[in-house]
Amino acid sequence: MQIILSLETSCDETACAILEEKNGDFSVLANIVSSQIALHATWGGVVPNLAAREHLKNIMPVIDEALKKARLTSKDVDLIAVTNGPGLIPALLIGVETAKTLSYLWKKPLIGIHHIEGHIYANFINSEQESRIKNQEKINSCSLFTDHCFPILCLVVSGGHTQLVIMKKHLTYEIIGETQDDAVGEAFDKVARILGLGYPGGPAVAKEATGVKKYKLEAPLPRPMIKSDNFNFSFSGLKTAVLYLAKKNEKLLKNKDFVSAVCQEFQQAVCDVLISKTIRAAKKYNPKTIMLAGGVSANSELRRQLGEAIKKDLPDTAYRIPETKYSIDNAAMIAIAASFRYKFKKGTHKLKNNWKNLETNANLKLN
Ligand code: KG4
Ligand code: ZN
Repeated sequence: MQIILSLETSCDETACAILEEKNGDFSVLANIVSSQIALHATWGGVVPNLAAREHLKNIMPVIDEALKKARLTSKDVDLIAVTNGPGLIPALLIGVETAKTLSYLWKKPLIGIHHIEGHIYANFINSEQESRIKNQEKINSCSLFTDHCFPILCLVVSGGHTQLVIMKKHLTYEIIGETQDDAVGEAFDKVARILGLGYPGGPAVAKEATGVKKYKLEAPLPRPMIKSDNFNFSFSGLKTAVLYLAKKNEKLLKNKDFVSAVCQEFQQAVCDVLISKTIRAAKKYNPKTIMLAGGVSANSELRRQLGEAIKKDLPDTAYRIPETKYSIDNAAMIAIAASFRYKFKKGTHKLKNNWKNLETNANLKLN
């Protein structure tokens, strides 16, 4: 059995989780997230130094709350995990320095985790949802500590990343395609700002996109690079198309039906591109499992439509999605990634002294 305490402060959530691993089964004993949305909403985006100040204020209360919720003390913790990149340096530093201090004081090993590795491993948290998602029998046979679910094709969609990643085994990543400009989440946020829907944009655009279309747009929005002969993406042109549409129809921005139609079309354009490239990549690489990861994986249309496309085109491929609370930034995903790193990577003895060595890296690479 192993108890992991994890911290995540790479952007605008101060998060601490406590995860218990017992014979390959995971239980999240606490998953505390203190969000700074209200603070950054005033600025229309995350301000790094303000984020850092908030993390500093919240980090110890969040750790306290997590230990209380799990009914544990520092003595019960076997391993400390922290996001050490990529992300905003002032924000990352608070989590990393706190984790290093706790590791030194509590004499516990410390492990640094790549934020996107955390998002990917959120798929391995045993979830209530598992019984409800598609191709269930195959998912059940995808035991965490065997190789049955590999190779995995993972579509990573967050505020900073849009990537298609192949995992031939645990903790190995081959990026087969990525965005050439904006990340999907970033495009959602910018479109929300253009349409006056506030921050964060993803959930706001998704909310507006629901319901029956009452306004018909003159022309569809572009599906950038959908036909390109590779697995890369581009979303800045799509965002610019929304900007031109909004400029051309300035008066209509007050019309809820117009805004709703733009959101629906934008979201559909995003889904079409992401899904078509993922299915094409799957046909080339023949994964046993397709996974979705990152904040945009909370988007219910993307979850649903990707599931349907897999069922139709690749009925033998399992489909795994994280529970929505583990889609957006949280620390449970960092703990589970740490558990796998601890188990599979040699040299864990070095983790004892990692409080001396661990560094933050804004551009940390996934490897
Ligand atoms: O992974 P995440 O929480 O933070 C980063 O690592 O970047 O992703 C945040 C991004 C934001 O751009 C946010 O607008 C987007 O995820 N997002 C969504 C939804 N929920 C969050 N985008 C579309 N639909 C959603 N429901
Ligand atoms: Zn994230």
